[in-house]
Amino acid sequence: MPANIVVGSQWGDEGKGKIIDILASRAEVVVRSQGGNNAGHTVVNNGEVYKLHLIPSGILYPDTLCLIGAGVVLDPKDFISELDSLESRGISTKNLKIDPRAQIVMPWHIQLDGLSEKFRGNSDIGTTKRGIGPAYMDKYERCGIRMYDLCHPEVLAEKIKSTGTLKNKIITAVYNGDAYDLDKVTAEYTEYGKRLAPYMDDVSVLTYEADKAGKTIMFEGAQATLLDIDFGTYPYVTSSHPLSAGVCVGTGVGPKTITNVIGVAKAYTTRVGKGPFPTELNDEIGDKIRKVGGEFGTTTGRPRRTGWFDAVIVRHSVRVNGLDSLAINKLDTLSGLEKLKVCVAYKLPDGSVIENFPPTLEGLAGCEPVYEEFDGFNEDISNAKSFDELPQNCKTYIEKLEELCGCHISMVGIGPDRSQILER
Ligand code: IMP
Repeated sequence: MPANIVVGSQWGDEGKGKIIDILASRAEVVVRSQGGNNAGHTVVNNGEVYKLHLIPSGILYPDTLCLIGAGVVLDPKDFISELDSLESRGISTKNLKIDPRAQIVMPWHIQLDGLSEKFRGNSDIGTTKRGIGPAYMDKYERCGIRMYDLCHPEVLAEKIKSTGTLKNKIITAVYNGDAYDLDKVTAEYTEYGKRLAPYMDDVSVLTYEADKAGKTIMFEGAQATLLDIDFGTYPYVTSSHPLSAGVCVGTGVGPKTITNVIGVAKAYTTRVGKGPFPTELNDEIGDKIRKVGGEFGTTTGRPRRTGWFDAVIVRHSVRVNGLDSLAINKLDTLSGLEKLKVCVAYKLPDGSVIENFPPTLEGLAGCEPVYEEFDGFNEDISNAKSFDELPQNCKTYIEKLEELCGCHISMVGIGPDRSQILER
């Protein structure tokens, strides 16, 4: 105790990395429980930029135990290059552990991700093409290759033979794609297994023991609430559970372990990939937010879609995650805009107004945002040292968001550095 969960409250890229990094500095154990290298956390420390995809941010602290839980899908090739890159910069990875149950992303998952997106044509999801969906499909099909298998050559060879043969059939017969030389895949992945074997340990047990020993634990979320496979904008979602509840199944801890859930949102909204986005700005304000906020994907480099803050979405997030507080990032990006709009409800085509996020795309179709408008601010706020120091219009904006979302805002981000956060 305490055990904090940090989750994204919009469509991802809310700047969770920075909040996670701050909390990681106070945690003894940092745990990742879902997703894979579709995630991208940028952490800026003393001007040094670290881009992490799979390795928990706690890795930047030499004494912090960093755990990757059973719910993660791990691409060993990418993971090893992340390890190498950190080690070449003098960051030790000796405190890193991966659960034997974690699923391994195989090369056919990556190919199938691209092939199925292509097959969908205009109805594609806009995935990161990292093989995430196909890896989770195999997990639920119960034919996935897990971390334990990767680290045991005989088991690995057997599993690659059975699963790989089937995948080759699907790739060639259904998609007209290229089959894999399974001996080559076995040789390559056996090497990955040798390299990763020392990192394997039971993360459920390690987390339980840390909790019993009274250690401070932080569960770092990847992706976000609106990308949740059930409570997001299905089918434009990822294939895991980025919700707070996903932490329990993805790590193997009971819900009573959790003491605090923090949601992260931006002072506006962004999303990458396809799917509905009621407050999207396809105009010069949207372009300005993209440019000033550097809204380009950490993982794929894609330009992010931008829009006004949507309180309907964040209220949904407060509810489905049971948020105790919110961190609002990138308030500084909004400087120079004359007016700031916040969506407070949706107007349906029949003229009625709803305040809860609709559960289906059909329900969302035709929803028009109902806005409240606030005065903007021109000042450069990136050097403010306390919330009280902010211009009155900034404070009013944050207080209004707090009221509209029904959740205490405990942190406000005013720039990319670890130090540019105002705690309330
Ligand atoms: P996938 O997770 O690669 O299958 O992609 C599914 C959807 O989730 C796409 O719209 C992606 O752009 C989105 N997505 C996945 N991971 C992230 C993330 O870390 N941040 C933002 N969007 C993400």
